[in-house]
Amino acid sequence: MASKRDQDILTQVGAGMPMGEFMRQYWLPAAMSSEVKAEGEPMRLMLLGEKLIAFRDTNGKVGIMDHRCPHRCVSLFFGRNEEGGIRCVYHGWKFDADGKCLDMANVPPHQDFKHKIHAKAYRTRERAGVVWVYMGEQAELPDLPHIEATMGDESDTIVMFIQRECSFLPGLEGSIDTSHAGILHGPAGRPQAKSTDIEEIILANPHPEYKVSETPYGTTYGAYRAAEQGQLNWRVAHYLFPFWTLAPTGPIEGHVTARAWVPMDDTHNMSVYFARRSTLHVSTLATLTGGAADFTDFLPNTTDWHGRWRPRARPENDYFIDRAKQRTETFTGINGVLLQDQMITEAMEGGMPDFDWEHLAPSDHMITLTRRRILQAVNAFTNTGTRPPAADTPKDYLLARSGFFVAPETRDWLEVYRERVDAARAAA
Ligand code: FES
Ligand SMILES: [Fe+2]
Repeated sequence: MASKRDQDILTQVGAGMPMGEFMRQYWLPAAMSSEVKAEGEPMRLMLLGEKLIAFRDTNGKVGIMDHRCPHRCVSLFFGRNEEGGIRCVYHGWKFDADGKCLDMANVPPHQDFKHKIHAKAYRTRERAGVVWVYMGEQAELPDLPHIEATMGDESDTIVMFIQRECSFLPGLEGSIDTSHAGILHGPAGRPQAKSTDIEEIILANPHPEYKVSETPYGTTYGAYRAAEQGQLNWRVAHYLFPFWTLAPTGPIEGHVTARAWVPMDDTHNMSVYFARRSTLHVSTLATLTGGAADFTDFLPNTTDWHGRWRPRARPENDYFIDRAKQRTETFTGINGVLLQDQMITEAMEGGMPDFDWEHLAPSDHMITLTRRRILQAVNAFTNTGTRPPAADTPKDYLLARSGFFVAPETRDWLEVYRERVDAARAAA
């Protein structure tokens, strides 16, 4: 299927582009709530190729708007965060968080036309310690996505923002690319599984077979490996429209995580990892981060459009690759799953796979299915206005959870998956 035209459709996210308009039909996680400080200075925010500013007004409400002042286009980044709104410093026009013009300081009151002027502002909400933004034009706002990992209290949610200097697509695809798990993230030598522990089984057998399926809200796969007599070990994972992945990094009963691959522009994305703290495997975060309790090794954030949440290990320093360790300890010599994944996507030429160059294998079936599913939905939206999956019915997502389970080889994997998730939820 792959063609350069498909690649362009999938990766061009600016306003007016098919994928860009499609993504604007969904809520996007935009920033940590703690980044938009009470009555603090405005921050620059790049989303879907748009240069925005975010600020928190004196009532605590977050405003996200185009950074260009609607008077003479000066950047509102330099504006003053005043009582009830932000004031442009050029001629003093003031806007509330909804973009309504409250004052025109340089125009005599009998001549002003502030009721006619709006800054281009987007609707926002906060949940789980994250500011969400809706960049679409639908009059009726959908609910925030019913994705379990994003629905908890701030105190029960671990949130990590990590910027990647690549298109969102390889990030997303890396997260559903199950066959790399036992290789990229494995040890230098090929181990034997010594127990029935799924992690050991994965490392000992890096080429599972797997099945894929479309869902109402995206795609799913089940990778399976032989377990004890007559049983199979399953790892089930999901892609959820438009940019979410649920990776199977723990048992399905209690491992509620999700990751958004939010495009900043065509060549940068912000991955936003959510995990319900109370459901996590103790070892999971340490595995992801190469031992650190959380992922804190960032360059200092700057006010630049691309200045937030950049790991210190990056292309210019080859991710601190340790070639001695690569020979003796880990397959890559790069520390931790998150950075290993970061490297392989940023190291693709131009920050994305080249559809004319690549050769997809049977092990890439989930990727081909997902690309096809996205392309069909984007084309249907662009050509006939068919509403994007789950965009207006975000409760559909509740069906999805990822993780491991063991099942008799005679059973249908999707049936067992649903039973296990329903049972886990009923017990919770
Ligand atoms: S450019 Fe903003 S008030 Fe004139
Ligand atoms: Fe990975």
